[in-house]
Amino acid sequence: MKIDTGDITLQDSSHLMTDVVVPRPIAWVSTVDENGVFNLAPFLLLWTGEQFPDGDWFSVGSYRDGKKKDTIRNIELTKDFVINVVTKP
Ligand SMILES: Cc1cc2nc3c(=O)[nH]c(=O)nc-3n(C[C@H](O)[C@H](O)[C@H](O)COP(=O)(O)O)c2cc1C
Repeated sequence: MKIDTGDITLQDSSHLMTDVVVPRPIAWVSTVDENGVFNLAPFLLLWTGEQFPDGDWFSVGSYRDGKKKDTIRNIELTKDFVINVVTKP
């Protein structure tokens, strides 16, 4: 099956990825804010390999009150982040 992520909505794309990538590894995403404070938070890593050449990706939601999570806030601010892949040990 060939899927062009440009032809479907972002939400459908996200649902598709979480359904087809099993088991999903954890990404510890590290960022830094404008004051140099480091932040580390876990996210599901969608590690898709060559079928999705857009690259490996993770999805950041919002807090229930609508506030942005620090991870996405920092990324928007600095355009920088590191995906740290966790091994079993
Ligand atoms: C194993 C695990 C996986 C998670 N995956 C996600 C995810 O894919 N997307 C998301 O928005 N939050 C996910 N979370 C929740 C975030 O880690 C949590 O909201 C965190 O507080 C965000 O921190 P931040 O505000 O420092 O970015 C996950 C939590 C755990 C424990």
